[in-house]
Amino acid sequence: MAELQNLAYLVAAASDLAAWRSFGADIVGTGVADTGGRSVGLRLDDHPWRLLIEQGADDDLTHAGWDLGTQAALEEYVDELRAKGADVHEESADRALDRCVERLFSLADPLGYTHEFFAGRTGEVADGGKLSPVLRGPGFITDDLGIGHILPVAKNYEADMRWYREVLGLRYSDRIRQEMAPGIYADATFFHTATGRHHSLATGAFPSPKRLNHLMLEYRDMNDVGLACDRAKKAGIPIVLELGHHPNDQMFSFYMRTPSGFGIELGYGGVVIDEATWEPQVHPVMSDWGHARNMEMVD
Ligand SMILES: [Fe+2]
Repeated sequence: MAELQNLAYLVAAASDLAAWRSFGADIVGTGVADTGGRSVGLRLDDHPWRLLIEQGADDDLTHAGWDLGTQAALEEYVDELRAKGADVHEESADRALDRCVERLFSLADPLGYTHEFFAGRTGEVADGGKLSPVLRGPGFITDDLGIGHILPVAKNYEADMRWYREVLGLRYSDRIRQEMAPGIYADATFFHTATGRHHSLATGAFPSPKRLNHLMLEYRDMNDVGLACDRAKKAGIPIVLELGHHPNDQMFSFYMRTPSGFGIELGYGGVVIDEATWEPQVHPVMSDWGHARNMEMVD
């Protein structure tokens, strides 16, 4: 059975590309790639880009790109999707070139964005991909683990969870059910790929006008989490959740609002799952300390 290896890139539509360019370089610490006038590419490593921000009024996630590892695995995965009745189709050579991949397949997600499947990126950056000088440490944890994770907002929670497991083939990590008031629960379910980052995708039912609640990027140096939080506050960027720690993926992180309104979590210390010893749990709290909420993710 072919399986998703990692979440390799994201594409979002944004109304203010200049704001994203400086948000990436000056606050988060990404590199900035030249992708033409109508988009901004944010670089996390030696890939040509990992976040592609395209001009558009949507201000939301549009595509999530998954690496299958090999062309043979990609073809097998697409065949298996079709056997399950999923309406997956091959994108044009031009679109594949835009994404810096050889062949590209796509499938609509029930939550309103599109999954893209490929095997390996092309067009690596000659200089190794310089990141922003604001970083103290060596950058971001990517490689086989992918760029981080996304939390798209469920529309039909139980059915959406099944879709991620049964159609996309993601592995179940764990779940959090926190009682916010008597009988009222905040609930999220977490999924990982074959390479084991605790979650590449989670979903939960939250009130939200956006498809994407947040994306997460992980630093290699813990100090970069605090330094990014300081830079964000100094720049007047809204902090959604203060510094804190999640009990399931063990991520030390904070959340702020991106120029497009959805959130970004910047973290350190996330768990990589070892299937031999991993025992999924249902945790009773979203955070075991910190993450004090200042505002909702989207105004
Ligand atoms: Fe997260």
